[in-house]
Amino acid sequence: MNAPRCDAALAWIALQGHYQAHGRDFDLREAFTRDAARFEAFAVEAPEVFADLSKNRWDLVTKKLLVELAQECRLQERRDAMFAGEPINHTEGRAVLHTALRAPKGQGPFSDEVHEVLDRMLAFAESIRDTAASGIRHVVNIGIGGSDLGPQMVVPALDAFVHPGLTFHFVSNVDGHDIAPVLRQLKADETLFIIASKTFTTQETMANAQVAREWFIANGGRDTAKHFVATTTNVKAAADFGITTTFGFWDWVGGRYSLWSAIGLPIAVALGAEHFRALLAGAHAMDRHFAETPLERNLPALLGLLDVWYRNFHGFTSRSVAPYHQGLKRLPAYLQQLEMESNGKRVDLDGQPLPFATSPVVWGEPGTNGQHAYFQMLHQGTDVIPVEFIAVKQPTHAHADLHRKLLANCLAQSQALMLGKGTEAALGETAPTASKTLDALTIARHRTFPGNRPSTTLLIERLTPRALGVLIAMYEHRVFTSGALWRINSFDQWGVELGKALCNDLLPRLSSGDAQGLDGSTAGLLARLR
Ligand code: F6P
Repeated sequence: MNAPRCDAALAWIALQGHYQAHGRDFDLREAFTRDAARFEAFAVEAPEVFADLSKNRWDLVTKKLLVELAQECRLQERRDAMFAGEPINHTEGRAVLHTALRAPKGQGPFSDEVHEVLDRMLAFAESIRDTAASGIRHVVNIGIGGSDLGPQMVVPALDAFVHPGLTFHFVSNVDGHDIAPVLRQLKADETLFIIASKTFTTQETMANAQVAREWFIANGGRDTAKHFVATTTNVKAAADFGITTTFGFWDWVGGRYSLWSAIGLPIAVALGAEHFRALLAGAHAMDRHFAETPLERNLPALLGLLDVWYRNFHGFTSRSVAPYHQGLKRLPAYLQQLEMESNGKRVDLDGQPLPFATSPVVWGEPGTNGQHAYFQMLHQGTDVIPVEFIAVKQPTHAHADLHRKLLANCLAQSQALMLGKGTEAALGETAPTASKTLDALTIARHRTFPGNRPSTTLLIERLTPRALGVLIAMYEHRVFTSGALWRINSFDQWGVELGKALCNDLLPRLSSGDAQGLDGSTAGLLARLR
């Protein structure tokens, strides 16, 4: 599609002027003082998620200009082209249709194929969950990247819904330290191995699958056909590996968008058919929200626009994700692939180098653990790092007091980031652990917080399969939004190719010691590693 790149839009110029006049020195505390209704003005309601965008460094003019920027870049047309199955992943000539995977039967492209695999996969999942009949106690997913991170994130997130008689393991790394401790816990006749790979050629996954099969046979496993299944677009390669039970998907499902496909099999086994369908229904509800809600109230679109504002005007280089829910401990890793593999690009759709920055670094840890590690830097470091808090109102445990403390911590952090503490205020306090030999002003300066540090808070009533589906789809569409404005291809990943090729070249050299043609550093390291 010939939509303009953001820097060619009139709104971009207007935003540059607006940033100079009002953006650079924008102060959140003053903004709240000026406008008693700021919270309401920047509140966004989406299915299952309430978003407080008021602690961000923007005003209504910024928001209006960003919406105009999206319109000039024809965000809605590009979104519609994705939903319609146009080949928007143009460097691979592929459609991008993960949304079709969660559309109800009879709706969306490829509905028959999608629902045939879904029904078959869910029936299989139910058969495994009947542990008395299946004899399965352990499920091991062997996959990497998009064939790992989705299930690895979702299964613990929905722990309260997981089958109590099954234990789930995720092996991804080609480092044997990943699979070895997993295998130690298993019995061959109680284990189901799921070999998850879109291409069924990925080195790490194939090597681990080989190890698993050898272990299975060496440990008395008899029925490989029953204990190994594959989730892949390459059914033939799975058959060549000796796997007869395969759940397929299609080249229009990107790896990092694939948890809704057969790649979600470990999730389906963990949660059961009904909850897996609820996860899909949640994602579909967010798809409808993204497709139908005006941009001014469209949550993923607004988050993506804020990302552009922060990355390209404020120059913020990263965003920290702080889920205040231990189950979401792998969400930051999941989002790293989703956002950085999608939008870590340096040329536009025409291959022209971009004169502006793209993907921020996305990183984080569950609250409150992050508070006792890197939050120091968020509060007092020299970089401004927008933080995204995720809070869940109702826990799925019975420890109400712990939950109140968790929520109070979450609120306190976004409050502290914004309010800060001036040197005057610090001077008026006694700090019992402060040195008695330093003068009060020096101590107060160390105890000053600049404040005005932006954050977003996302509130969820309860972390159900449906709510998690909503949340993940929200992140997908947010990444789509910033990628569309930057006019990059968010759906290829050529950046992973070079390392794979060089690894294939180095592998035999590790045995032979042949360093011919290598750079000095690589040759030196190779010699030391032999
Ligand atoms: O790292 C590159 C990548 O292609 C990811 O995009 C993908 O999710 C991962 O490798 C795994 O690929 P596959 O599912 O084909 O094994």
